Amino acid sequence: MIHIKVEDNKGEVQDLEIPEGINLNLMETLKAFEYPLRATCGGMALCSDCHCQVLEGWDNLPEAQEQELITLDTRPDATGASRLACQIKLSEAIDGLSIRLIGENE
Ligand code: FES
Repeated sequence: MIHIKVEDNKGEVQDLEIPEGINLNLMETLKAFEYPLRATCGGMALCSDCHCQVLEGWDNLPEAQEQELITLDTRPDATGASRLACQIKLSEAIDGLSIRLIGENE
């Protein structure tokens, strides 16, 4: 199981348990758990609706690629802990990740 702690836009915290081997990114996973992420671009790193701040587990994440960095640069609320959930593939490597959602909801 992959464990991810998620704080939503209202400050509610939930521990998610996700079976390994699911071929989804973190944005798709959050939507599967019924988080109302708007995700207008469908996971292309263009809309930033899936913007989150990483509270724990940053070092286990793959490095952000150029398009993600360009999109995050357009967000006035981006910090050094910001990532786009659609650019994070679900895998055992990110077990223990803790994030706060700060992007746009539906
Ligand atoms: S879904 Fe649009 S940037 Fe992640």
